[in-house]
Amino acid sequence: MAVLVIDGPCRLCGEVRVHGAKNSTLPLLAACLLCRSPVVLHNCPRLTDVDTSIKILRHLGCIVQRRKDDLWVDPRAVCGSTIPEDLMREMRSSIVFLGALSSRMGQARLSFPGGCELGPRPIDLHLRALARLGMDIREDHGELLCSAPGGLSGCSLSLSFPSVGATENILLAACCAKGTTVLHGAAQEPEIADLCDFLGKCGARIQGAGGSTLRIEGVSRLTGCEHTVMPDRIEAATFLCAAAATGGEVTLSHVIPRHILPVTAVLEEAGCRIQEEENRLRITAPPRLHAVHAVRTMPYPGFPTDAQAPMLSALCTAQGTSMLTETIFTARFKYVGELLRLGAHVKVEDRVAVVEGVSRLSGAPVMAPDLRGGAALLLAGLCAEGETVIDGVSHIDRGYEKAEESFRLLGAQVCRLPGGRGEEKQSLL
Ligand code: UD1
Repeated sequence: MAVLVIDGPCRLCGEVRVHGAKNSTLPLLAACLLCRSPVVLHNCPRLTDVDTSIKILRHLGCIVQRRKDDLWVDPRAVCGSTIPEDLMREMRSSIVFLGALSSRMGQARLSFPGGCELGPRPIDLHLRALARLGMDIREDHGELLCSAPGGLSGCSLSLSFPSVGATENILLAACCAKGTTVLHGAAQEPEIADLCDFLGKCGARIQGAGGSTLRIEGVSRLTGCEHTVMPDRIEAATFLCAAAATGGEVTLSHVIPRHILPVTAVLEEAGCRIQEEENRLRITAPPRLHAVHAVRTMPYPGFPTDAQAPMLSALCTAQGTSMLTETIFTARFKYVGELLRLGAHVKVEDRVAVVEGVSRLSGAPVMAPDLRGGAALLLAGLCAEGETVIDGVSHIDRGYEKAEESFRLLGAQVCRLPGGRGEEKQSLL
């Protein structure tokens, strides 16, 4: 299995382009199922999660072609309504296909996503809302059997927690339902506004995009459109944390600065200078960060849970003690045990991590337990003295396009050994 080998420490400098957002591309690809003519999506990242979505679309009868960063999706021949278990297992967020598939086909059969590396992954909010829209949902031996032979009908809905996935599923199911759906308590993540923007171009009637109340007036059908995926705010946050951790000076291009405000605010508190202009962000970090008082993950516009791990990693070598609280997922500090192997001083109790900054980290072999935890280890490896070998790289590949190339561009010494530790290290520099 592939590993990443990092020779640290380094100081990141230069400019890097932020890719299209994974968490936007996945629901957009699911939304293609609703369209009756081809869709062109620009700025689609090359990630394994995107590849899994493409496999699902092809399995359901879509023709999907990639040309560089563009995906062309022809959903006219959609005929299947079952998503095989192996594809559901490859990517838990494939549950976002449920709303669109049921709406398009009048039925859907897919396996229950179950637990994942971040802890239990319930979908009760998705299912309750879809049932209110008229879907009959049965669970049988870990499978979800959904049908709506008479079609879906709009209604008034309220989410008790602003779940991103549930909001997306409701949007996708309600676009072509009979009548109007009003959703209160919707998630307000920018990826949802991007989905609403796409659906609007396809002919959907949605009011309130980006806010907590969405009003969706059902239309009989959607057509294809051309859309550019928004920049990945989590990849951008990861680059910023990496620059901060290494005392670097980095410019990000193709970024929407206001999407990352909660992250830049913490980095400023830690002593970094942030300059923004339109779609660029420049970070200048001090040689050593200061600790920050309290970082608490929250739904947007709060501090994103997906940036918690890279931020914690950056604070490992800060001067003083920082505290980070995870409020969204139950098991999101698994990577901390691996950071300890590099010499970090972090104590985790339940949902709180206390990070006592150390003056240096040192390289060691580590294992990425999940996507963002993997990114945290990559950052720590850039700061650590000596060689860090990261196993479990497939997690990182789910959400970062060619991470090693982006970091090499900024001056890091990092290479991938596709065959794992046994393979002779080949420097790509
Ligand atoms: C999405 C993102 C993920 C991000 C998360 C929170 C994608 C593909 N993934 O995941 O990167 O970390 O938002 O910003 O966009 N919950 C329930 N019942 C439900 C649904 C959710 O209890 O029916 C709970 C979850 O267990 C979790 C919390 O709500 O504790 C947030 O989940 P949700 O917002 O749904 O995240 P995802 O859409 O899975």
